[in-house]
Amino acid sequence: MILAAGAGTRMKSATPKVLHRIAGRSLLHHAIVAAHELEPQRTVVVVRHERDAVASHIAEVAPDALIADQDDVPGTGRAVWCGMSALDATAVAAAVAAGAGDRAHLDAHVTGAVVVTSGDVPLVSGELLGSLVDAHSSGGNAVTLLTAKVPDPTGYGRIVRESSGDVTAIVEHRDATDAQRAIDEINAGIYVFDAAVLRDALSLLGRDNSQGEMYLTDVIEIAREAGGRVGALVAPEAQDVEGVNDRVQLATIGAALNRRIVEAWMRSGVTVVDPATTWIDADVTLGDDATILPGVQLHGDTTIGPGATVGPDSTLTGVTVGAGATVTRVHGVDAVIGDRATIGPFTYLRPGTVVGVKGKVGGFVETKNAKIGDGAKVPHLSYVGDAEIGEGTNVGAGTIFVNYDGVHKHRTVVGAQVRIGSDNTLIAPVTLGDGAYTGAGTTVRHDVPSGALAINSSPQQNVEGWVERRRPGTPSAEAAERVRRAAGSHEGLSSGPQGLTHEGES
Ligand code: UD1
Ligand code: CA
Repeated sequence: MILAAGAGTRMKSATPKVLHRIAGRSLLHHAIVAAHELEPQRTVVVVRHERDAVASHIAEVAPDALIADQDDVPGTGRAVWCGMSALDATAVAAAVAAGAGDRAHLDAHVTGAVVVTSGDVPLVSGELLGSLVDAHSSGGNAVTLLTAKVPDPTGYGRIVRESSGDVTAIVEHRDATDAQRAIDEINAGIYVFDAAVLRDALSLLGRDNSQGEMYLTDVIEIAREAGGRVGALVAPEAQDVEGVNDRVQLATIGAALNRRIVEAWMRSGVTVVDPATTWIDADVTLGDDATILPGVQLHGDTTIGPGATVGPDSTLTGVTVGAGATVTRVHGVDAVIGDRATIGPFTYLRPGTVVGVKGKVGGFVETKNAKIGDGAKVPHLSYVGDAEIGEGTNVGAGTIFVNYDGVHKHRTVVGAQVRIGSDNTLIAPVTLGDGAYTGAGTTVRHDVPSGALAINSSPQQNVEGWVERRRPGTPSAEAAERVRRAAGSHEGLSSGPQGLTHEGES
């Protein structure tokens, strides 16, 4: 059971606290992933604040989870009461489905261990929850709680133990005496309860405290009075149980989680040159001997192939990088980069870009919805949108795939082994056949057949002496004059169209 009904007012955000993200997942999603590692029979999330936003997020990341709505009685105790009602309702439904006679099904309820965690404590791992469940069952406990010793316990509930060491109570900071506030062992807000003990204790909770809330922590004393054993597991790493209450903690805990993810990849055989400037989301995967250079952010379900090098200074979201590829100073979104391809520096790969094996997309190139074939190259200063480029084709510097007529987008298809000259404009829809060539500066408006050369630039005209006549006194005119004098030409400058030469005349 994951509690996520609180308001999270200290975040000062329009977004509910549990939906703020670190390492590419919401805080709540981290808690759900840890809970799922226990392979529970059922997962229930208790919601109230911004109910619809939180519920639709749950439906997205954990469609099997039950959603329990907390009513207007405040407090963690009431939240768990609402969660238990939802769990028991599933037991009733199961009993009805199994054909339980009479009204027997009305008494059906869940049994066994109920693990309660918080939606705002994202560093708790499934492994730590597992240790808590183990401690609970091996101790034959009614309640087992997770605690931590922290340097600054302010704000947390304090663990009160008797001289034997047994936990007798949890006292909230606001309700604690000075002596209790000096206790440095705190309640992590994560528990394992026996379902029957919990159900009975919840029905006895009052609201006699400084906040007038139903405190889940009061279950400890009630369970003890009923003769149950209360056990406690001290978390080996206090930071694991830290909750996010404001955006400073969001950043601190986000950095701690990132550090863990990066270290795990380094231990599994990935080189990370600068862990402090490398950010890797929880769902990213990296292959053996991949190298991540400083200033890299890998988001979403990005996959880096074995032996690939990414960085410096690259941000990839949902990008697949092939084995041995090189990705230098790239911003990429939902793109696929083939094995041994080279991308960058300063390249923008937009959604739908697919670069083939040993393909190249170079500096100041933007691509979108573009399939660039094996060994094909777009090396410099180009825009490639809504296009297909065949195997081994080379696109000259400064070529623009003109895909947008102002209303609709159109497609360009370039065949295999095509040579597109520099500074071409390919106006879609247009097709260039296999092995075609285009001259520099060509505006391609019509299909080019396989093997043809397309050229459409007009002949160049040189108007001799134009600069000295029309721009006298300028540095350019002076430079031209120096060349003319050095060549020994003392003729006066003519003013007519004489001196006009055409390309190809000589
Ligand atoms: C709670 C504990 C405290 C512990 C701390 C650990 C109680 C009374 N206190 O205090 O001993 O040290 O957690 O972080 O339990 N929630 C609901 N419904 C509510 C109130 C809260 O679902 O009506 C949820 C919140 O969304 C959150 C969790 O319960 O996920 C904890 O709530 P929060 O208000 O942060 O409790 P704390 O005051 O921190
Ligand atoms: Ca809290």
